[in-house]
Amino acid sequence: MKNISKVGSEALSSSFSFHYYYIRAMVNDSYLGLGMQDRKRVFLTWRINNIWSGGVGVKQNIYDNNDFFPRYISLRDSGITYNDFVEQPAIKSLISSLNGKSVLDLGCGTGQFAKYCIEQGASKVVGVDISKNMIERANKENKHEKIDYICTPIEDFELQNHKFDKIISSLAIHYIENYSALIKKVYGLLNENGEFIFSTEHPIVTSRKEMDNWITDKDENKLYWAVDNYQEEGKREQHWIIDGVIKYHRTISTLMNTLINNGFVLEKVIEPQSIPIGLELKPKVISEKRRPSFIIIKVRKGSFL
Ligand SMILES: C[S@@+](CC[C@H](N)C(=O)[O-])C[C@H]1O[C@@H](n2cnc3c(N)ncnc32)[C@H](O)[C@@H]1O
Repeated sequence: MKNISKVGSEALSSSFSFHYYYIRAMVNDSYLGLGMQDRKRVFLTWRINNIWSGGVGVKQNIYDNNDFFPRYISLRDSGITYNDFVEQPAIKSLISSLNGKSVLDLGCGTGQFAKYCIEQGASKVVGVDISKNMIERANKENKHEKIDYICTPIEDFELQNHKFDKIISSLAIHYIENYSALIKKVYGLLNENGEFIFSTEHPIVTSRKEMDNWITDKDENKLYWAVDNYQEEGKREQHWIIDGVIKYHRTISTLMNTLINNGFVLEKVIEPQSIPIGLELKPKVISEKRRPSFIIIKVRKGSFL
């Protein structure tokens, strides 16, 4: 419990940091290339959600936790993670040509994916993330004149007069409590025929309340992966780098049907395994052959709603 309250207090201090980012965004004319109307709208939405409501406990901001962040960054900087060998190759394989396309990256982290989109010819990328640590790093390491990074929770991000050709989200959606509201929002932010591609932790990973699923023998050999509490959707608390990391479990049918019911056409689903180099550099990714850690879903905005 100690760690959870610490996370809560850091969320509060980070909510004040949003202020700085939004004021900076408001005075920066190049911000998103948006008109004053849209800038005011984004700013006011953020104020309502983060200042007038007290800003605490609404959305977890684990990446601004001082114990978590440096350890997460050193893991990612190692370049030999599940992201590098399993998740990123799979999500990239689903994105059709980025040439001349506008992209929204939800939970953009340090902006690696935003930069990748520009390198692939995207005309504009907007990266949104709740964490000021992540956005600071993105602005340092993956800055580009065609990228705008915005520090705000995805749940509060709204634009009235701008839509995107592609919306991408890599491993952020399991942090979002209200999946249905998110999908409606994504639909509204996409151009007709636009693509939404996202990865999330696989429901067989998030289901069990203990979230410690490998059942091992006395010598720590992995016997099998335990799935439990599958139909009980909702909050899960996990030790991942630190205690008290909150994620949300949803069944596969909820993940898919919410998309379908909101007018998306399902195009492809991947439960990825490691690329070959991963098996050499990080032998334990072989476990992905026994059960997938991630699910990657690609849908297209239909025109019937
Ligand atoms: C596992 S990291 C992935 C970062 C990036 N997409 C990547 O692949 O490198 C998850 C990211 O989601 C962000 N995130 C979590 N909850 C969020 C929320 N409610 N709104 C915006 N970003 C959020 C975190 O701050 C973090 O940067």
